Amino acid sequence: MGQFSEHVQALLAQLSVEEKAGQLNFLVGDLFMTGPTMKTTASDKFDEQIRSGEITGLFNIYGTDYIHRLQKIAVEESKWGIPLLIGADVIHGLKTIFPIPLGESASWNLELIEQTARAAADESTAVGINFNFAPMCDIGLDARWGRVAEGGGEDPYLSGLIAAARVRGFQGKDLKAPDTLAACVKHLAAYGAAEAGRDYNTVDMSEYRLRQTYLPAYKKALEAGAATVMSSFNDLNGVPCTANDYLLRQILREEWGFDGLVVSDWASIAETTAHGTSADLKDAALQCLQAGTDLDMMSEAYLQHVPQLVANGQLAMSTLDQAVGQVLSLKEKLGLFEDPYRYGNLEREQVSLKSDQHLQLARQMAEESIVLLKNKGDLLPLEPKQHLLTLIGPLADNKADMNGTWSFFAEPDDPVSFYEGIKAVQPVQLALGCELYQSTEQHFSEAIEKASAADVIILALGESAVMNGEAASRSDIGLPENQLDLVKALKKLDKPMIAVVSCGRPLVLSALEPLVDAILVTWSLGTEAGHALANILFGRSEPLGKLPMTFPRAVGQVPIHYQVKSTGRPYLGDYSEPRSERIYQSKYRDVENIPLYPFGYGLTYTHFNLSEIRISQSEMYLNDTITLECLITNTGKRKGTEVVQLYIRDLVASITRPLKELKSFQRVTLQAGESKTISFRIEPDMLAFYRKDMTFGPESGQFTAYLGFDSESLKSVNFTLLDEE
Ligand code: NOJ
Repeated sequence: MGQFSEHVQALLAQLSVEEKAGQLNFLVGDLFMTGPTMKTTASDKFDEQIRSGEITGLFNIYGTDYIHRLQKIAVEESKWGIPLLIGADVIHGLKTIFPIPLGESASWNLELIEQTARAAADESTAVGINFNFAPMCDIGLDARWGRVAEGGGEDPYLSGLIAAARVRGFQGKDLKAPDTLAACVKHLAAYGAAEAGRDYNTVDMSEYRLRQTYLPAYKKALEAGAATVMSSFNDLNGVPCTANDYLLRQILREEWGFDGLVVSDWASIAETTAHGTSADLKDAALQCLQAGTDLDMMSEAYLQHVPQLVANGQLAMSTLDQAVGQVLSLKEKLGLFEDPYRYGNLEREQVSLKSDQHLQLARQMAEESIVLLKNKGDLLPLEPKQHLLTLIGPLADNKADMNGTWSFFAEPDDPVSFYEGIKAVQPVQLALGCELYQSTEQHFSEAIEKASAADVIILALGESAVMNGEAASRSDIGLPENQLDLVKALKKLDKPMIAVVSCGRPLVLSALEPLVDAILVTWSLGTEAGHALANILFGRSEPLGKLPMTFPRAVGQVPIHYQVKSTGRPYLGDYSEPRSERIYQSKYRDVENIPLYPFGYGLTYTHFNLSEIRISQSEMYLNDTITLECLITNTGKRKGTEVVQLYIRDLVASITRPLKELKSFQRVTLQAGESKTISFRIEPDMLAFYRKDMTFGPESGQFTAYLGFDSESLKSVNFTLLDEE
């Protein structure tokens, strides 16, 4: 139960039931849109509803003049003068666009992620936004689901750290500061586990998996102080999450002690009727309020039905007051009662939006997001001006798609295209080759002709921005056939080829891989895309990204992730060696079990070696810490950065455990020839898990600790956790 301030309690005592319902009604800036929209010019569409107290706030609008005009109506012309919440989906930047979250996650650079979130908050608050619907903390194990683009990837630990960094960036140290805004941990819960990767689909999973894999990232973001939570569209074990009191009351409020605001997702209260668990909008309103969804985004269910539900005794006033109290408290925490105009400032708009500092940050983040998957014969980096280059592909001179999914506030012409970025360093020939999803003979032959003169061909391939994100699930996650046809045709020229792959999800690159010499995954890189790519291509910066999600070798392997379990019949065989005993092992007949590129994978322009693993003691008690050391050497000829990853396996436990789980990592930058000893602490907490009886803690026994540069090529050492003497 929320403990509200005297001011909030006084307001609750004064508001009528209708006015309380109005405080729970949250609408998008244009009611006829099915997705986000923006209003930059003054519109009087909402004036009357604000004046009469029927709207608590609007979202996906921006602009100081417009927002201040609306605030003025709320504060000066509505009965109680309660200011408005102004929400938005600022998922990876407002005007300065940073790489999509999955791309940023590939940097494994928590400090930089916090900085980009800080910059996004700075721009958003400058234009009047005070409530951001981010970070998305949904674990993505299924690359068919388009929204993996918005999250931190497949790993609960890494995703949790990333989500927490974003919360710190958005909220800063003081939620009342004019350049910070409320974060929203979304979508509770397990939205990423939508069956078959189809968006909005059902989720049915064991409590063990929910708690062990899906819940930790949301929890980490809440521990970082996030002010709000958004419930998810999916049903979980038969109960729509927006009406799920087990999730929203028992787990969120009682177990985790969350005392902030819960907002529904877009119309997810009304959608409980389509789910088949509420009879109509009134029933939906009652169920969702009782389950703990405080704020109604886009259903207008509370506005329409709360007064009657209270009048006929179905809804307790105390339940309503809890929800309204949360909304008013958020407005209070944001400092809106003291100064409703603190967000939105024309001078700050001028200074903050696309400032040099933000663009510089966007470039650095874009460089660090790029993952080098293949580099045959050290083709990369290219020596500037030493080769005749031809850049070919549907994403070669494409600006708008660089903004990626969820970039409604961005300008489509702002991004630096790959062509512009490369051309700023050296002349390059350009050919379209084909459209993203279709080809013409003319573009094909023009590309082949231009490529014939080149020493090196750079291919800009991949997905368009709208092919990932919300409502963008795909059953085929390979490169579009027409793009592959282009690559096959160019392959006949027998020239070195570098593939630059833009995507919002892991793609199946098995058909592309043998055709090209180098592969760079660039996600949707944002405003500075072209400069960032050029810096990596020409070795002005070193690639250091590591995959935050497994790249499958066939779509039929999906969901594929590194935290697999042994099974009772682990696959031990070797596909090149048919042996009868491996027929009944856990495997496919037509494709290997292993992915094309594992979680944590990414090459650099130099080579690193990991040796001399030492463990401080091979046995530990529950109150001990052991230290694991190893020597990292840059054995190549260039400076570079590696991410040393620590995984742990619990060998025998009361329930089956994954073959490994990421527990820690460190980024190490070394000059050519340099060595450094790295040490990790292993604490009993890192060995804890949900045990057979669903209690959380470690179990004594044998463990293996693994160190390496990705989740597959690892060196190991064993240790034992002992029971207390
Ligand atoms: C639906 C999406 O699921 C959610 O993430 C977003 O914040 C809202 N729409 C508002 O645009």
